[in-house]
Amino acid sequence: MATWRRLEDDARRLSALYGFQPIETPLFEDSAVFERGIGEVTDIIEKELFRVRSPGSADDRWALRPEATAGVARAYVQHGMQTLPQPVRLTTFGPMFRYDRPQAGRFRQFWQWNVEAIGDPGPAIDAEIVELAYRYVSGVGVANVEVHLNTIGDSACRPAFIAALAEYLGKYEAELPELERRRLATSPLRVLDSKDPRVAEALAEAPLLSDFLCAACRDHFDSLLAHLEALQISVVRAPRLVRGLDYYTRTAFELYQRGAEGQQSALGGGGRYDGLLELFGARPTPAIGFALGIDRIAAAAEPNSGVAGWHPVAVVVGADPAATDLRLRLATDLRAAGVAVTGDLAPRRLARQLEGAARDGAHFAIVVGDELDEGQVQLRDLEAGTQRPVNVDDLARELQRAHASHRHGDANERSEAPPNA
Ligand code: HAM
Repeated sequence: MATWRRLEDDARRLSALYGFQPIETPLFEDSAVFERGIGEVTDIIEKELFRVRSPGSADDRWALRPEATAGVARAYVQHGMQTLPQPVRLTTFGPMFRYDRPQAGRFRQFWQWNVEAIGDPGPAIDAEIVELAYRYVSGVGVANVEVHLNTIGDSACRPAFIAALAEYLGKYEAELPELERRRLATSPLRVLDSKDPRVAEALAEAPLLSDFLCAACRDHFDSLLAHLEALQISVVRAPRLVRGLDYYTRTAFELYQRGAEGQQSALGGGGRYDGLLELFGARPTPAIGFALGIDRIAAAAEPNSGVAGWHPVAVVVGADPAATDLRLRLATDLRAAGVAVTGDLAPRRLARQLEGAARDGAHFAIVVGDELDEGQVQLRDLEAGTQRPVNVDDLARELQRAHASHRHGDANERSEAPPNA
């Protein structure tokens, strides 16, 4: 959880730094949102969508979201964000669901940090988006991050490539597995996503999209490369990278840890989707974004030591084991004054209460005894082993002051920092 907390905090910090506004889309939506957005003939829709049936109905018209982009695009159109200054920059961090055989790095519920910039044709913003993804993944301590980059053309030039690919693959039809044979007929580009080694063999000499690019797509890609160079982001050109979702146009990229490239190990991916918003009824609206796989990044990132949890600044303990109400009340008053404390509510001896306070990671114990009649308690520094009397009226202020000078910089402090810090 300490590592996870840091990954989430970093995503929110960078989102704010780059001007992305938070958005939350529902965890389940009308399945048409996903089918239309991601494409009917994709693994995600054909094999991995968790469909949801309403009670008492045979109609499974809902689905758990397998990714965020389709829902964000739907929300952009539904809530009239076209009237806002463009691009609209949106971000979301949360769970996604895909049905697959669970294995290392592949889960049925997994988390993505998702970033979308809607309404800018690029190519400068493409570079900004790639740079943000790279900065995040390398910044959380993943060593040797590589950006694999390709352009996959647009509706002007891709059809000729698809026709050439289909013609080429036609020669290997008999050798292709059943699913790929079906895809060859319906969506030949998807054959390029296949994980089957027989397909990889058949694809060895297949035509490359880069040989079919129109002038506009080529210019876009060349400018993107120049912008990335200016930002000192080096990329690996990946001419066969097409991504597994149908909505992409032009820019497509994935992030890997060097030496762990391959379908199952992408730490994240994204690209441009200039046609998607129109599918939801918008006027033509260019867009680009990415999603990073937080589970995979957590496994590859530098782990955080320590426990990401709540540690009290102080625990209220007392000499009289039976006086739990006193400890409870003082703890409640201190919380009302904004100090993170617990009261020891077990009727046990003072020595045991103090052991408990140290185990909870508190810096201080507040020892309540007879002096309370004179408005005083003992403030005990559990690390130093020292103790001094403090007036109850000054206690909250005194604790805050003493705590500030005792910080040890653990994960708890990080969580107390303001979200934009
Ligand atoms: P995606 O490539 O399907 O893209 O997923 C992005 C990342 O999510 C993957 O690279 C991987 O790290 C993680 N991921 C995917 N499936 C799983 C799984 N079953 N278990 C663990 N991690 C997984 C998208 O989702 C697009 N919406 C990205 C995007 C946003 N494109 C434009 N905007």
